[in-house]
Amino acid sequence: MRETDCFNFHDFRRLAERRLPGPIFDYIDGAADDELTYRRNTESFENVDLVPNVLRGVEDVDLSVTVMGQKLALPVYCSPTALQRLFHHDGEHAVGAAAAKFGTMFGVSSLGTVSLEAIRAACDTPQVYQFYFHKDRGLNSAMMQRARDAGINVMMLTVDSITGGNRERDLRTGFSIPFRLTLAGMLQFAIKPAWGINYLTHEKFRLPQLDRHVDMGGGAMSISRYFTEMLDPSMDWDDVAGMVREWGGPFCLKGVMSVEDARRAIDIGCTGIVLSNHGGRQLDGSRTGFDQLAEIVDAVGDRIDVMMDGGVQRGSHVLKALSVGAKAVGLGRYYLFPLAAAGRSGVERALGLMRAELVRDMKLMGCRSVDQLSRANLRWR
Ligand SMILES: Cc1cc2nc3c(=O)[nH]c(=O)nc-3n(C[C@H](O)[C@H](O)[C@H](O)COP(=O)(O)O)c2cc1C
Repeated sequence: MRETDCFNFHDFRRLAERRLPGPIFDYIDGAADDELTYRRNTESFENVDLVPNVLRGVEDVDLSVTVMGQKLALPVYCSPTALQRLFHHDGEHAVGAAAAKFGTMFGVSSLGTVSLEAIRAACDTPQVYQFYFHKDRGLNSAMMQRARDAGINVMMLTVDSITGGNRERDLRTGFSIPFRLTLAGMLQFAIKPAWGINYLTHEKFRLPQLDRHVDMGGGAMSISRYFTEMLDPSMDWDDVAGMVREWGGPFCLKGVMSVEDARRAIDIGCTGIVLSNHGGRQLDGSRTGFDQLAEIVDAVGDRIDVMMDGGVQRGSHVLKALSVGAKAVGLGRYYLFPLAAAGRSGVERALGLMRAELVRDMKLMGCRSVDQLSRANLRWR
């Protein structure tokens, strides 16, 4: 199986599974507890049917949207994800370049493996910095200043990770940074030597957003200790209001799910919210972004940009979310499996397939531009 054999999410997932050592594949593919929310994320799109209009003169289709002040050529963006150079040695370089090629936005995680400055210099497209809130307020300010100096367009604070999710696949394999593999986990690496050779022959693995501030070397600090010791579980709305003021530009909360919280996000001056359950990796049993979308759009959609992510695998999923009222839709595993399978060209192929699906489905729906999509085109089962 090669990249050119991949025509959809499932093909890329299968190819990624062949290329990656089991513990790394499971880190991407896995989710919290019984993975109920993870499965539900994609299933929830099946509760809604599209009702097309015909004979609307759809020769040209414009997929562009404007979200949080950023003009995007596509209504999808690459949501920030951790540790990308573990999945493919080009990591964020590959994702940023592919996003730029398709004229869309991408996020760099606090747990990113390429520095936000390096990616900013290489990729001329809107860039999000995904932030975690630290106990040390000086550190928060220093990181925001660094992001400002680098020319980051949007600050995205993740608010659904106040404590780590229970990812049992990772417990079984021993996946952690630094690696603390179980014997079974080690064997999984031994049977995928190509990954190991690549890992060892490319630039050393680092977490450059953090390594000026956190000593991850020599086992001094692990990611799980970073979460428990350095991040601040007492973070509240006043803290975030202070951050929004200090940033002074587009500011977005990722992981808001209730109407009450969406209203508070407006009150403290946020520009956007992403309805998200972190790809099912945090609170299992929580509602999906898509299921919750109509309620939030009806309550606040005219006052803040509402986005969603989770389970998006097809252009038709995106059209359903846009029809309900999302301003843009985030992709996670949709681009991570192609990254793992084939690096930059894999991500480009996946985004190309998504763009082709969106154009085709817009034409079949009788829509020339995203603003022609509405709930009139939807029926709930
Ligand atoms: C392997 C992996 C790592 C992730 N790392 C982060 C992260 O560092 N910060 C963050 O806010 N979200 C992170 N996410 C969540 C994504 O940004 C996004 O919300 C989620 O993947 C969407 O669900 P999907 O994968 O079904 O598209 C991660 C998701 C995955 C799968």
